[in-house]
Amino acid sequence: MENEILKALSARKSVRVFTDRPVTAEERAAILKAAFQAPTAGNQQLYTILDITDQALKERLTDLCDHQPFIAKAPLCLVFLADCRRWPRAYRAAGVENPRKPGPGDLLLAMADACIAAQNAVTAAESLGIGSCYIGDVLENAEQMRQALALPAHVVPACMLVFGYPTEQQQNRPKPVRFREEAVVCENTYRDRTEAELREDFTLRGAGVPEFDFDRYLQAFCNRKYDSDFSREMSRSAAVYLKDFT
Ligand SMILES: Cc1cc2nc3c(=O)[nH]c(=O)nc-3n(C[C@H](O)[C@H](O)[C@H](O)COP(=O)(O)O)c2cc1C
Repeated sequence: MENEILKALSARKSVRVFTDRPVTAEERAAILKAAFQAPTAGNQQLYTILDITDQALKERLTDLCDHQPFIAKAPLCLVFLADCRRWPRAYRAAGVENPRKPGPGDLLLAMADACIAAQNAVTAAESLGIGSCYIGDVLENAEQMRQALALPAHVVPACMLVFGYPTEQQQNRPKPVRFREEAVVCENTYRDRTEAELREDFTLRGAGVPEFDFDRYLQAFCNRKYDSDFSREMSRSAAVYLKDFT
């Protein structure tokens, strides 16, 4: 099955190198408007979006987000914050006495809300020919991030997005292959893939990579991503934010 939206969703890929062409105020407004129109729990919009316009702050974010230099070069940079503060403050302003403290459920819901809004922004940008890339590392270095972005309690970075027009090289870069449906969809209840199925899932996904070797690939990926310093830092840092919610 194919239509314009399905085609666009399929063609989208992350863009990490941008041309000098700026994102105009009109384009920025359209991207933000699309974000606001995303589904949102109870129509609460449990997020705040920081539009990072200060170049020194973009450079600081580059450092705090595992030193990814393309962040500082992005014409548009938005940080999506899970905001569990706006509604309790409004409850208090409205005379509600002692509304309960935000808990882990509130945070998880706000994280989902913020990321769903972010994905609308990605799709809107794509429709304008503007590429984007998520930066998950925004969850790292909680103490410095809180200071850099003036984050109060109960406000947690959910994701960061950088936007810009893709260079030709980025436009022509092949999109990474996904798992096939059987590898990620279970009927009704969860079922672990067998080891043989896992090997097959990863090997099929690796199709196109010359001489894909399951063991070598997974060992290297684990070292580079899952067991890496940045990944350990992300978990440490997330626990700092979580303290507010327990
Ligand atoms: C939650 C999340 C965090 C991500 N963080 C980063 C990041 O810090 N740096 C980066 O270069 N790409 C990041 N990405 C982009 C992924 O690497 C990319 O989506 C993936 O490799 C698939 O490629 P594609 O988006 O081109 O299809 C992130 C994506 C998501 C959804």
